[in-house]
Amino acid sequence: MRNTKRLLLTLFLLLPVLFVGCSQPTEDLSNTEPSLTLETLPPSSSAESMDEDVSDESVQATIVTEAKTEAATAPASEETDATSEREQEASPESEASPEVPLQPSVEEAVGVVDIRLSTDSVFLRVGQKKMPIVTMLPQHAADKGERWISSDPDIATVDSIGNIRGVAEGTCTVSVTSTDNPAVFASVSVTVLPEAECTYIDGILVVNKTYPLPSTYAPGWETEASAPFWEMVAAAKEAGFELWMSSGYRSYADQEYIYNGYVQRDGQEAADTYSARPGHSEHQTGLAFDLNGLSWDFGDTPEGIWVAENCHKYGFILRYPKGKEEITGYTYEPWHIRYLGVEKATEVYESGLCLEEFLNITSVYAY
Ligand code: DAL
Ligand code: ZN
Repeated sequence: MRNTKRLLLTLFLLLPVLFVGCSQPTEDLSNTEPSLTLETLPPSSSAESMDEDVSDESVQATIVTEAKTEAATAPASEETDATSEREQEASPESEASPEVPLQPSVEEAVGVVDIRLSTDSVFLRVGQKKMPIVTMLPQHAADKGERWISSDPDIATVDSIGNIRGVAEGTCTVSVTSTDNPAVFASVSVTVLPEAECTYIDGILVVNKTYPLPSTYAPGWETEASAPFWEMVAAAKEAGFELWMSSGYRSYADQEYIYNGYVQRDGQEAADTYSARPGHSEHQTGLAFDLNGLSWDFGDTPEGIWVAENCHKYGFILRYPKGKEEITGYTYEPWHIRYLGVEKATEVYESGLCLEEFLNITSVYAY
């Protein structure tokens, strides 16, 4: 009889849980992952706003993570309290342990006692923006509001969520204080470098980790490389190989969106091995294209082999060859071709050198 009573009580307690569990759609966690794949181009028409979204998402992600931690450490809700009370009633253990408190203690609201930033120095160019990640401690502080301020808005401005934007060459300090406890703050030193300029070496517009483009450089899709690209695709088709363009021109904002997505997903060190920082991508020249599936295997396919052996005839080189990773600064990309014109491309192809070796230049970030 006592067992039947317990069974009925358990069913009664489980019913709301089962009902809620069935009526809530299961969260598809895969949809919460960044949807970017290697070198995937976001729709350029909305790149500006998407770029803003990335910043916002990173902030929201931090807040959500913190909120989850809070939930995990927060005092039990009223519902949980009631449930545990009922369980206590029905549990023989509770009869045997009357000293176990029926109500968990409720923590008092806590204030912010410390602020940490992901970095203590930021380097950026005029017009460029960066956002250090801020962590307010303790994690379960009741009010984690931020107030950002720049010591010199003529050098760099900062918005309400910590986006620092370079205005003019110079240095300043950006600080964040807690709205809950203004005595608690953290600072980052900001160095704003002048806007980049285009670099031509031997008549070639060079873009790599050493040589950036101005953020305003925006030739668009129609460049001297457009017609040769489609000629090459037609020639490949004639030879029995299907080539398609996976990515072509990208604006500075497109690249910022893509690169920031990778940094959020893999961290900056890893992202720097395969994705260019904004202003440092050849795609911004309109002279670079990605082919087919963006896979390392592409280099071993008949299409990939055809491209490696023939693209120079149409003015292109394989920009990031296998074995040259330390020199180009990027992992092998059998799919990424760069237009130089037939003469130069043929010279580079016949030399067996990568472009950095051919021009005797480096590819290393200054900061
Ligand atoms: N994947 C190349 C390096 C780029 O991002 O331009
Ligand atoms: Zn590429």
